[in-house]
Amino acid sequence: MPDKTFKRHTITSALPYANGPIHIGHLAGVYIPADIYVRYLRSKNEDVVFVCGSDEHGVPITIRAKKEGKTPQEVADEYNRLIKSSFKDFGISFDIYSRTSNKTHYETASDFFVKLNEKSALKVIESEQYFDEEQQEFLADRYITGICPRCGHKDAYGDQCENCGSTLSPSELIDPQSMLSGSKPILKKTKHWYLPLDEYEPWLRQWILNEHKEWKSNVYGQCKSWIDQGLKPRAVTRDLNWGVPVPAEGAEGKVLYVWFDAPIGYISATKEWAEQAGKDWEPYWKNEETRLLHFIGKDNIVFHCIIFPVMLKEHGEFILPENVPANEFLNLEGNKISTSRNWAVWLHEYQEDFKGKEDVLRYVLCANAPETKDNDFTWKDFQAKNNNELVAILGNFVNRVMVLMHKYYDGNVPAKGELYDIDLELVQNLKSAPESIETSLNTFKFREALSKFMEIARFGNKYLADTEPWKQVKTDLDRVATIMHLAVQVVANIAVLGEPFLPFTSAKIFKSLNMEKMSWDNAGSPEILEAGHKVEKPELLFAKIEDEEIERQIAKLQSTLAENGAQGDEEIKIPSEKEPVSYDEFVKMDIRIGKILTAEPVKKSNKLLKMQVDTGLDKRTIVSGIAKYYKPEDVIGKQVSVLVNLAPRKIMGIESQGMILLAENHDGSLVFVTPEDQVTNGSGVS
Ligand code: MF3
Ligand code: ZN
Repeated sequence: MPDKTFKRHTITSALPYANGPIHIGHLAGVYIPADIYVRYLRSKNEDVVFVCGSDEHGVPITIRAKKEGKTPQEVADEYNRLIKSSFKDFGISFDIYSRTSNKTHYETASDFFVKLNEKSALKVIESEQYFDEEQQEFLADRYITGICPRCGHKDAYGDQCENCGSTLSPSELIDPQSMLSGSKPILKKTKHWYLPLDEYEPWLRQWILNEHKEWKSNVYGQCKSWIDQGLKPRAVTRDLNWGVPVPAEGAEGKVLYVWFDAPIGYISATKEWAEQAGKDWEPYWKNEETRLLHFIGKDNIVFHCIIFPVMLKEHGEFILPENVPANEFLNLEGNKISTSRNWAVWLHEYQEDFKGKEDVLRYVLCANAPETKDNDFTWKDFQAKNNNELVAILGNFVNRVMVLMHKYYDGNVPAKGELYDIDLELVQNLKSAPESIETSLNTFKFREALSKFMEIARFGNKYLADTEPWKQVKTDLDRVATIMHLAVQVVANIAVLGEPFLPFTSAKIFKSLNMEKMSWDNAGSPEILEAGHKVEKPELLFAKIEDEEIERQIAKLQSTLAENGAQGDEEIKIPSEKEPVSYDEFVKMDIRIGKILTAEPVKKSNKLLKMQVDTGLDKRTIVSGIAKYYKPEDVIGKQVSVLVNLAPRKIMGIESQGMILLAENHDGSLVFVTPEDQVTNGSGVS
C-alpha cells in the first residue's frame, strides 16, 4: 500500500534543459523510475498528478543560441519538441509536459519572488562583477574565459576549469576575457537578491537530518555534507537578458536565476494541467494530505532538498517534499555520458534503430538503474537482457501459454479441476507477488521490484516444465485443463503487474487476453479469467537481437571515440569522482594493514574466497570476491589493507568481519592494495 495517511500524490520529475536531446542516462536516472512509480499509483487508483516540462532558461541555452545564430527561444522550441516526443515514444506518462517559457510560469515565478521579497525573506547584496564594456552586459561566469589559476590551462571558464576539474570563481581567472566580444572585462558594481540559506540551517538539520532519516542514503548523505559544510546565502537573480524579469524596483536588466524559477515550474505545470483537466491545482501543492515527491538525478539534490524547500517554506503556503528519491549516474560502456563529447545513446536515435523496442530499453534501464551507485550501460548487456530475459523468460512463457490455449481449447479458458501441491504452490506464488513487488516500489527499489516481477514468468515457465501439459494431453485431459486454466491466470497477472514497467508489452498482453486493462488490486488472484472466456492469438512480444545489431551500435560509439581523439583500440575507464566527504567522515573509516593467514574457496561460489586475516587487533574471517583473480595459495601470507570497522555482513551464509580493499583495473580485474614495505599487522592507514 502506498502510505495511507496521504490522499493524493504530486509527482515531479526534473525539468530537462531544452538545449539538447535526452539520452539513456536521463531515462534511467529519473524518468523511468518516476513513470513506474506513477503508473503503479494510478493502477492502485490513487489520486496522482505527474508533471514535467522543459527548463528553458539559463546560460547554456543562451550560449547554444549564440553559437547557432538563433534566439534562445528558437533553441528551446526545437528541443522542447524533440524531448517531448521522445518521452511520449518511451511511454513516460506525464499528465502534462509544460515549459518554463509559458505565460503561467512567468506569472507564477514572478509572484513567488514578490511574495518572498515582501516578507523580507531575500537580502539585497552589492558586489563587483565582470562587465563587458563593448557589449554593455554583465558576464555570466560561463561567458568569461581565462587561465586556470590551478593548472595553467588556457581556456578555463569562470565557474570551472574543464582541464583540471576545479570549481572556480571568475575573479580567480588569470587574464580574463569576455566570450561575447573578446575584450577584457572590467569589474563593476551590481546588486542581487539572495536567499539566506545560512539562516535556515537549524531548520534544515531538523527537517532533513532528524525527520527524514528514511531518505535514500545517497540523498541523505549529500544533504548532510552540504549542511555540515555550512550554507551560504545564494543569489537568486542574475544580470542576463534571458529569463523571468525580476519583479522588483531597481532590477532592470535582471532575471531570476534559472534554479530559482525552474522548480517553480512544477507548480506552474500543475496549474496548467488543472486548468485543462477541470481540477483545482491548489490541493496538489498546499494540502497536508498531499505527498510531494521529486524524482531527480544526483546533481540536482541540493536544489530539491535544500534550496527549493527553503523557498517553499519561506513562502508559507506550500507543502514540502516527502521524499526525493534521487539516483546516481548511468555510465555508457564504462565512460561518463557526455553531451559535448557525444558519448551517449540518444533516445531519438535508439528509436530509429530499434523501433518498437521501447519496452526493451525501459527494461534494461530499470534493471540497471543507478539506484545506489553509478552504473554501467553496455550494448552487450542490453543484448543479453533482451535475449536471455525478455525473450527467453517473459516472452517465451506468455507465448507458450497462448499457443497451447489455442491448440487445445481454441482460445477458450478451460475450467479447472482438482488442485495438486504443485498447483497450490503456483497459486501461492501468485498470491504473494503483488505485495512483494509493492514493498519494493514503496521504498523506490525499482530494480528489485522488476526482478520480483520477472520471477512470476520464471515460476510460470517452471510450472509448465514440471507439469508438462503437452505430455499429459495424451492421457489426462482434466489435468491439462487445470494446468492451462492456471497458466493463463499467470499471464493475466503478468499483464497487470507488468504495466508500470513494460506498458507497451502489458497492453499487448491485455489485448491478446481479450480483456480491459485491470487495476493492481485484482492481481495475485488465480481467478482473473473465468472459464469460458475466449482469448485471442498471441502477439509477438520480444524478438532476439542479433550480434550484428549490437556490433553496429558499438561501432557507432567507437567512431565517436575516434572523433574525440581517443588513442589505441583499448579504452581505459577511469571511475568518475565521488561526492566530497568531510575529513571527519573520512577518519571514521578504520583501515589497517593485516596479513592473510588462511584462504579457501567458498562452496557453490566461483567468485568468493574465505580468509582468516590477522588484523593486529584480532584474527577474523573475511569473505572477498577475488577468486577469479587469486588462487587461495597465492594470497596466504600477503599483507593487505582491511577496513576493520565495516559492520559484519553475511555473505553466502558466512559472516564476513570487515573488507579487504581492492583496486579495480580498467578491465574489471581486481588487485590487492598492499603496503610497499612490510609493516606491523594492525598499522593504521590514513
Ligand atoms: N534542468 C535541470 C537539469 O537538467 C533540472 C531542473 S529541475 C527543476 O539538471 F527543479 F528545476 F525543475
Ligand atoms: Zn585547471
